[in-house]
Amino acid sequence: MSTNAAGLIARTPKNLLDRRVADPYPYFAWLRQHAPVSAERKAKGMTVWQIARYEDVDALIADGRLSKRPDRVAHYVAGPPGLNRHLVHSDPPDHTRLRAVVNTAFIPRRVVALEPVIRTAAEELLDRLDGRVRFDVVGDFAGPLTFRVICRILGVPDAMNTPDLRELLLATVMPTGPHATREGVERTNRELYAFLTSLVAHKRTAGAEETEETDLLGALVHACDGSDILTREELLSTAYLLLLVGHDTTLNLIGNGTLALLQHPDQAKRLDAEPDLIGPAVEELLRFDAPVRDATFRAAAEPVEVGGHTIAPGDVVSLLIGSANRDPAKFDQPDVLDLSRTPNQHLSFGRGPHFCIGAALARLEGRIAFPLLLERFGQVRLAVPAEALTWRPTRVMRGLASLPLERY
Ligand code: HEM
Repeated sequence: MSTNAAGLIARTPKNLLDRRVADPYPYFAWLRQHAPVSAERKAKGMTVWQIARYEDVDALIADGRLSKRPDRVAHYVAGPPGLNRHLVHSDPPDHTRLRAVVNTAFIPRRVVALEPVIRTAAEELLDRLDGRVRFDVVGDFAGPLTFRVICRILGVPDAMNTPDLRELLLATVMPTGPHATREGVERTNRELYAFLTSLVAHKRTAGAEETEETDLLGALVHACDGSDILTREELLSTAYLLLLVGHDTTLNLIGNGTLALLQHPDQAKRLDAEPDLIGPAVEELLRFDAPVRDATFRAAAEPVEVGGHTIAPGDVVSLLIGSANRDPAKFDQPDVLDLSRTPNQHLSFGRGPHFCIGAALARLEGRIAFPLLLERFGQVRLAVPAEALTWRPTRVMRGLASLPLERY
């Protein structure tokens, strides 16, 4: 038994479907209640399942029967050709090997050592906004900050860390717009491939000016050249993955979280007055408006029973993290922002073997960024009505294209 797309879309209230990108939460609430496990039929007879309840998302996100191998899911989420041999699209034993190579760079000791780097970068970016009446939290602060940090960890030279590179990376996950035409996709992929190739070539010849905290790419090149741990395709794919998800996630945490604080001034005041609240506050901001709205795609490697439905081998599965995080069966008053919420078992970083490798880094960036924003911005408000804010229509992420604020 399955709810097919035609049936589901016909039954879903149109206003919820239309507003899905700007505000997915009423749609998610409807799904949890009326179609917690639902199938959509896409082109070429492929079936994509959406899973909306916490209990099911929590179980399936760590379930090894759902595969992430590129030959199983990449036809749906193609990604740049030649650049999708990475952690997100792999199963054991490849996944275990790839994860071990990058994991050491994100262990707590190395992440903590980056605190001064992150703080200095954040303060420098905020200094530039001093005296400006109007500015964009996403474009002027969150984007450049998170990109600088991941570039620093990988050891990307400053001259190569440009706004154009950021645009190029973000373009690879935009399903619509000028980059999504056939020529646009080909051009983006060509330019990205050329960039990554020259970056790797640079790392091979550059001297060891980096420290162990800031030369992950050097370590990856070594794992590729010095031993047989990584193939060249895996090396380029991993560099692409880390540059992308190392910032187009925390960027959304800072953007979505700042918006949530602006819309809940009592909570923002509380955080300003109680600095020790920052740990649980970051967790609640992660839960309340999940920066990665849906888990990355999986495909069933064998039949999987869920909620009275059978997901057939080959079917694609989309786990709605943003919906699980607002499930009233798991959280008291899930639509309320409560910065002191404990416990807070949100699924914003996933769970199981694919649990986010950058979670400690993202949390640290959030713990530095939010108090600095509160302290430095003083009296600010949205410079446009909330309904006029633009959300990027990406496949699995949830983030604002810009967050314009003005001082008053
Ligand atoms: C607030 C920021 C972030 C959020 C919400 C987030 C969320 C997630 C989620 C939900 C997953 C699991 C996806 C799945 O199972 O389908 C994941 C995996 C991953 N994340 Fe993050 N992430 C964030 C920041 C970062 C950062 C800063 C990095 C730095 C490199 C990073 C690197 C990764 C990698 C490499 C994976 C794949 C792990 C694997 O497949 O084994 N993430 N992330």
